[in-house]
Amino acid sequence: MSAPIIRNICSSRRAFFHRTLSLKKRFSSSIHALIYDEYGDPTKVVQLETLNDLPLVDKKSIRIKMLASPINPADINTIQGIYPVKPPLPAVGGFEGVGEVVEIKSGASDIKVGDMVIPAINSLGTWRSQVVCPSDCVTVLPEGTPRLFAATLRVNTCTSYRMLADFQDLQAGDTVIQNAANSGAGQMAIQIAAARGLKTINIVRDRPNVDELKAHLHNLGADIVVTDTELRMSSPQKLLQGLPKPKLGLNAVGGKSAISLMKYLQNGGTMVTYGGMSKQPVTVPTGMLIFNDIKVVGYWMTRWHDNNPNSVEAARMFDELCQWSKEGRLCIPRHRLVNIKDYKSGIESAMADFTTEKQILVFDN
Ligand SMILES: NC(=O)c1ccc[n+]([C@@H]2O[C@H](COP(=O)([O-])OP(=O)(O)OC[C@H]3O[C@@H](n4cnc5c(N)ncnc54)[C@H](OP(=O)(O)O)[C@@H]3O)[C@@H](O)[C@H]2O)c1
Repeated sequence: MSAPIIRNICSSRRAFFHRTLSLKKRFSSSIHALIYDEYGDPTKVVQLETLNDLPLVDKKSIRIKMLASPINPADINTIQGIYPVKPPLPAVGGFEGVGEVVEIKSGASDIKVGDMVIPAINSLGTWRSQVVCPSDCVTVLPEGTPRLFAATLRVNTCTSYRMLADFQDLQAGDTVIQNAANSGAGQMAIQIAAARGLKTINIVRDRPNVDELKAHLHNLGADIVVTDTELRMSSPQKLLQGLPKPKLGLNAVGGKSAISLMKYLQNGGTMVTYGGMSKQPVTVPTGMLIFNDIKVVGYWMTRWHDNNPNSVEAARMFDELCQWSKEGRLCIPRHRLVNIKDYKSGIESAMADFTTEKQILVFDN
C-alpha cells in the first residue's frame, strides 16, 4: 500500500474550494482534509491535503474541531460519482461526524464553546480536522452523549430509528426482519428494536466465522440470526420459533435477499428498501402484491432531514437516541478508529466484504 500523499492544495483549487465556504480567509495553523477533485475510485482520487489558510470566524459562523467521522457507503458512492448527491469539486469527503465548538463570536447565541455538534446539513465535508461553517449548519447534542455514538448518529442510527417508527405501527412483541443485519445500520436497528421491545430476525451473509458474528448480534439484542443459506433452507414455522410473522422488513441488499426477506412478512406487511449493497434490483413476485398485500417502499434519511430541519420530531428523535446511548441501551456498532493519515487503509476496509467494522476517522488536532 502506498503512503498517503500530504500536499498543499494548489492555489486555483484552493480558491475554488474556499469560495464554496463563502467566508473570509486568514493565515493560521494548518488543518488536514481528505479532498477529491474528480469522481472515481475512492482509493485513488481521495488525497490527504494540508490547508494553511483557514476561514475566519465571523458573527454568523463557528469553528469546530472535528473529533471523529465515519466512512459510510454513501460517502464511498458519492466519491465514485454514483450517489444522487454530487458536491461541487473539489470537495471534502464525509457526510457526518462529530466535533467540538472551539471558536465562536457573540452572534451565535444558541451555541457555546465546548458544545458537541453534528452536521445539520449533508454537504459539510466532515473528513477534516477543522470546519468553519455557519452556526445553523450544525445540531448541538445533549451534554454527555458518547462521542463515537454522536459521530454515527445522523446517518445510520437515525435511519434505523425512523424506519422502525414511520412505516408500521409496531408494538412491543411485534417482529421485524432485516438483511445486512451486521451493517452499521443493522446493528443499530437491532438495538433500537430491543429498546422498544420489538423482536428481530437478522439475516447475514455466510462467512467462515459466522458463529462469532451471530454471538455479537445476539449480544446486541438480536432474537434470531440466520445466514442467507439457512434462511433459504428453513421454513417460516421452523425459523420463527413461535414469534409472530414480521410486520416490517428492512432491506439494504436487494436481489435474491430482498425476495427471501419479503417471503417472511405477514400479510399487509411492509418492506422498506434503504440500501442496494448487492447492486441487484428489487423484484417483487406478483402474488406478494396481490394476495399478500405486501407494501414495497423506499426510504432516504437525507430527504427526511431536509424536510425536517429543526422540527419537534427531529429534536425528539435526537433526544431519545442520545438518552438511550447515555443509558447504555445503544452502543456504537463494531468499529475501528483510523487516523486521518491512514485514510487509505480506512477506505479500503470500508469497501471490503465481510468486515463488520465501521471505519471511523479521527483527527490530530
Ligand atoms: N437510505 C438511507 O437513508 C440510508 C441511510 C443509511 C445507510 N443506508 C444504506 O444502508 C446500507 C448499509 O449502510 P451501513 O453504513 O450500515 O453499511 P456498513 O456498516 O458499511 O455495512 C455494509 C453491509 O453491506 C453488506 N454487503 C456488502 N456488500 C454486499 C453484497 N454484495 N451483498 C449483500 N450484502 C452486502 C455487508 O455485509 P458483509 O459483512 O456480508 O460484507 C454489511 O452488512 C448501505 O447500502 C447504505 O448506503 C441508507
